[in-house]
Amino acid sequence: MARILIVDDDPALLRLLSLRLHYEGHTTIEADSGAAALAKLDLELPNIMITDLRMPGMDGLQLFEAVHRRFPLLPVLMLTANGTIPDAVNAMQRGVFGYITKPFEGVDLMRDVNRALEVSATLGADMPGEDAGESWREAIITRSPRMEKLLSEARLISQSDASVLIHGESGTGKELLARALHSSSARANEPLVAVNCGAIPENLVESELFGHVKGAFTGAVRDSVGMFTSAHRGTIFLDEIADLPIAMQVKLLRVLQEREVRPVGAAKPHKVDVRVISASNRKLEDEVAAGRFREDLFYRLNVVGLTLPPLADRREDIALLAHHFMRTLSQRYAKTLTGFAPGALEQLSTAAWPGNVRQLQNVVEKCVVLCTGSLIPASLVQSALSSQGAEMLTLDDARKEFERDYLTQLLKITNGNVAQAAKLARRNRTDFYALLARHQLESASFKA
Ligand SMILES: Nc1ncnc2c1ncn2[C@@H]1O[C@H](COP(=O)(O)OP(=O)(O)OP(=O)(O)O)[C@@H](O)[C@H]1O
Ligand SMILES: [Mg+2]
Repeated sequence: MARILIVDDDPALLRLLSLRLHYEGHTTIEADSGAAALAKLDLELPNIMITDLRMPGMDGLQLFEAVHRRFPLLPVLMLTANGTIPDAVNAMQRGVFGYITKPFEGVDLMRDVNRALEVSATLGADMPGEDAGESWREAIITRSPRMEKLLSEARLISQSDASVLIHGESGTGKELLARALHSSSARANEPLVAVNCGAIPENLVESELFGHVKGAFTGAVRDSVGMFTSAHRGTIFLDEIADLPIAMQVKLLRVLQEREVRPVGAAKPHKVDVRVISASNRKLEDEVAAGRFREDLFYRLNVVGLTLPPLADRREDIALLAHHFMRTLSQRYAKTLTGFAPGALEQLSTAAWPGNVRQLQNVVEKCVVLCTGSLIPASLVQSALSSQGAEMLTLDDARKEFERDYLTQLLKITNGNVAQAAKLARRNRTDFYALLARHQLESASFKA
């Protein structure tokens, strides 16, 4: 049961809406103009607002702007007459949750209302009557149907101990989802141990993951339990799993099969009870096909696979996320920002976002820091976007670029002597020639 603010200058429509919503068990607050709606909002905050677009005086869009500045996360549905679709699309770009064309069918109305209510329940914070059962995913801000579907799947599988593999481009929220899965599970009160497999030097991976006994190797001055044992009864999050060296993949597979770990230098293994969530921004199937990842381990990890869509494929989330970041960041920087100036959100909504949500967060942070007024102007968004947006490379492209620069440097240092360059790079000559060929580099052109 929710509280819904309905705004329409047509008393007949107001009554119709109100009857239908009461019938579904909701309570309504009614207003016959934008100004009246704003006055009611001062008294009590609804879960969602439904407003007519065309009204004398303040129209629906102006009302939305005013409400949005004060309650950026309140979902607003717009009623539009047939034939005003372009206005409606424009409204969506500004962050209106959705539109309902008049005349409407009761079922269509309720579908949109329920969708808006679902979102309002997950936003928490300043919404009344939030649903405690949804707190596991409260950090994940979204209104995208694709994300909603993914989250309900995640919710289901979180209740089991099945291994989950999360795939998604860099910055799409893989770690956030892993944490949500853990907090939704029966293991929520036990530790979640996150390991970045790409960040641990190869020779230390085994002891980091499984621990070691004192004296197992030089530098092992005391026993160390390792990440798996620390995560006992809880969850281990293996981030960047594709970076795990092949030799370690074999050992990890054994641990998952036997459910026991043997610390480096220990005589006997011991049991561990750990739920495994792993993540990768490369497609693990491709890594398997390329022979860089063991197929048997892949199947062990990927009992359930979840794929986070890139931000560009869920543009309806951009305005919502932008407001969320604006609010939290202006608190952090002790600023009193209230919203985005006209045009600013459109710019954010149409940008490319190769770095996904993290990049959006960075752009908003830059705006918040540099903003001098209470609204973030479009010009500031523009410059924040172009200073880092356009140049933002995907990880694969960044790797390629790095590799090419690195090879060029080697060839310069060695005056194009491939044998010497290969030696410095610790690659055999055949591999090294293949690398040069991949980047279309000719050693001859580096000869003095
Ligand atoms: N739906 C979301 N709602 C709120 N914040 C989000 C959302 N998705 C991502 N973020 C934020 O964006 C940032 C990046 O998210 P996260 O670290 O989970 O991404 P990732 O996929 O693990 O990235 P990477 O591949 O680079 O490690 C974090 O600060 C996270 O809090
Ligand atoms: Mg991550």
